[in-house]
Amino acid sequence: MSALIEVSRDGPVQVLRINRPDKKNALSGEMYEALSDAIAAGDADDSVSAHVIVGVPGAFTAGNDIADFLAHSKGSGGVTPVLRFIQLLPRVKKPLLAGVDGVAVGIGTTMLFHCDLVYASDRAKFSTPFLDLGLVPEAGSSLLFPRMMGYARAFELLVLGNVFNSEAARAAGFVNAVVTADELETTVLTAARRLAAKPPEALRLARRMMRGDADVIAQRVDEEAVEFKRRLASPEAREALSAFLEKRPADFAKLAKKV
Ligand code: COA
Repeated sequence: MSALIEVSRDGPVQVLRINRPDKKNALSGEMYEALSDAIAAGDADDSVSAHVIVGVPGAFTAGNDIADFLAHSKGSGGVTPVLRFIQLLPRVKKPLLAGVDGVAVGIGTTMLFHCDLVYASDRAKFSTPFLDLGLVPEAGSSLLFPRMMGYARAFELLVLGNVFNSEAARAAGFVNAVVTADELETTVLTAARRLAAKPPEALRLARRMMRGDADVIAQRVDEEAVEFKRRLASPEAREALSAFLEKRPADFAKLAKKV
């Protein structure tokens, strides 16, 4: 349970709202646990037919809490809740939908590649600044991004660090439709209700066949996680994460001088 993840029901649809507006919905360990618990419980509950993830106005999520990353980088704290969440994503049993308004950074974008339907407001912004933080892609993104949008566009988003607006995300294929912020939640809930009314067994089989082998995706999640954990402890990541919290530009040149 976390007060920062609101779990509610819209009939057969389970709605998970990330609700930490003062930190742009950055995800702490407790919040990852709450998301994983709710998805696992919904998957096991016959009265739930679909999961919907939304944020608050202007923030889907700013990604992993950078203070948590820094704590881990210095040897305290743990990434276990993050790992549990990203290992669960390829294995979610019921349709997963997202409604994205505002910033979707890091896991805020990578989790969308595990969704069946994604709707975005016209002011949504998608980015995965792993490289600039001295980190590597996570949540299966090194496999799923190129698979969905081709290597060239995936490289721009995942390595170059370009920010995609909603239209670019739609053109790249990971957003179904762009609507106004006011229309967003109605749009995603309407789609979730339509899915909830489908014959469940046929839906389960269709998803399984279309999503590809979950074991292959899960294996990539684990491979990335090994590198990600190593990188978190690197001087580059420590500098980038400290710089964000200290509200200053990162200085990687000073690290090179020490070598
Ligand atoms: N972790 C921890 N705190 C975060 C955060 C994160 N990922 N993202 C934002 N915050 C905090 C800011 O430190 C700030 O806190 P403060 O008010 O106590 O100073 C607050 O949320 C508002 O953020 P701010 O940067 O002022 O908002 P903005 O609208 O100017 O920019 C972002 C929004 C998301 C573009 C910017 O906050 C950002 O780049 N965040 C980091 C994203 C990131 O790198 N995530 C990790 C991906 S792996």
